[in-house]
Amino acid sequence: MRTLFSRALGLVLGLAVMMAAQAAEPGKLPHVVILATGGTIAGSGATTTTTVGYTAATVGVQSLIQAVPEMQKVARVTGEQVFQIASENMSNAHWLTLGKRVNALLAQSDVDGIVITHGTDTLEETAYFLNLVVKSRKPVVVVGSMRPSTAISADGPINLYNAVILAGSQEAIGKGVLVCLNDQISGARDVTKSNTSTADTFRNPDLGMLGYMQGNRAYFYKTSTRKHTLDTEFDISKLDSLPQVDIVYSYANVNATALNALVAAGAKGIVHAGVGDGSLPNPVKDGLLKARKSGVLVVRSSRVGSGIIARNGEANDDELDFVASDTLNPQKARILLMLALTRTSDSKAIQQMFWTY
Ligand code: SIN
Repeated sequence: MRTLFSRALGLVLGLAVMMAAQAAEPGKLPHVVILATGGTIAGSGATTTTTVGYTAATVGVQSLIQAVPEMQKVARVTGEQVFQIASENMSNAHWLTLGKRVNALLAQSDVDGIVITHGTDTLEETAYFLNLVVKSRKPVVVVGSMRPSTAISADGPINLYNAVILAGSQEAIGKGVLVCLNDQISGARDVTKSNTSTADTFRNPDLGMLGYMQGNRAYFYKTSTRKHTLDTEFDISKLDSLPQVDIVYSYANVNATALNALVAAGAKGIVHAGVGDGSLPNPVKDGLLKARKSGVLVVRSSRVGSGIIARNGEANDDELDFVASDTLNPQKARILLMLALTRTSDSKAIQQMFWTY
């Protein structure tokens, strides 16, 4: 009886300690750190009606924070300017710096969550990279905006406000890296920018978003079934570069010129953005096979934007020794292949990773 009681007590105490490690103290606002990287959310235009042709990455993190004083009611918000760039200039080196900073901050007991402000053009890539390399269950939320801070009805302030609530919430713990714009919560793996200019550009083709932000709180309806953050095998703590992986895009009448140039330039991996179900036009197929025989890893993805690339579907991957990308789009397949190559060059093991993450 006594043993049963002390076991139960141990369990309750253990749970309490776990919860204390995960959440801000009751009654205390969560500490959310905003890491600013630039983008349109930090952009400014010549007039209030300038919504194209503005300059991205001009407003600093302190100004972003001051522009939304409401955030201080829902979190203790502090900020760091990590970069000040338009996201088309995001590089592997930026990702490594950002990932290491996120891990260092989340290891601090006084940090409850992180928001990363980011340009929308490559936002999904940064989010997926972090989803694979962050070593914490604390929330990490990537946010951007489609209108610059100077525009009428700028979407940055409300997006940032929602992202801060999400990053400080209990609901977001353990959900992987999240993307929050337009009152919607998406998972890093499946979200993609789908429209060049509208505020509802972030979509999760076929697989759907995870939830909504409404009335100052997060509502989740789903979670990703794929492994992320603490459950991945990727460790960037000692990396100062990533293997070169490039994308080759196919189309009618394509030739292998671009592919051959990338391989000659030292690519360790190629992601093929194939037509349809990842099909391989003959000149590209020959080039990819030659590349594979010289040790380059080849992943078959698709330019279509949704759906599964099945192993041994449109190509005999067993025979060609290629990897199928599952539902990862080419730009995300590139990220997983780079990280996979930091662990192994075995194509079968890498295929397994594409089914796991
Ligand atoms: C960028 O990606 O930096 C510019 C576009 C945007 O943030 O919407």
